[in-house]
Amino acid sequence: MDRKEFFSKALIGGSLFFLAPSLLNSCSKSSDPAPTPAAGGTGTTTIDLNLPDLNSLKTVNGYAYSGDYLIIRTGTSSYIALTKICTHQGCTVAFNSTTDKIECPCHGSIFSTGGSVLQGPATSSLKTYTATLDGTNLKIS
Ligand code: FES
Repeated sequence: MDRKEFFSKALIGGSLFFLAPSLLNSCSKSSDPAPTPAAGGTGTTTIDLNLPDLNSLKTVNGYAYSGDYLIIRTGTSSYIALTKICTHQGCTVAFNSTTDKIECPCHGSIFSTGGSVLQGPATSSLKTYTATLDGTNLKIS
């Protein structure tokens, strides 16, 4: 190997070294897109609705995220909870109160508020949870 060939190979190898982590991360897919209710035996997660991050839940049709949950306020004392992780490739979905649908910004999948796929590319439903109001807490199981 001559000097020119050595530097050429070193340059290519160095480039791959720096690019490899970003290439591996860009195509990652969540292996478990559904959040798991809190560990500890009860299978229930309790969320304090007074937390500032959840202020949008003070109005009907507002939505917010808590952990891996997408929570939507559907009435004065009713809420629904689903996984916020799109079943296609793991992007975070959002609630569109105008259409009353859950949309994924990455590739356009649309879900009903019951979690069913209305438009792909996603083929699997969003996991849904029972959300029960208990005072100022929301219990998700
Ligand atoms: S990640 Fe949601 S549609 Fe692709």
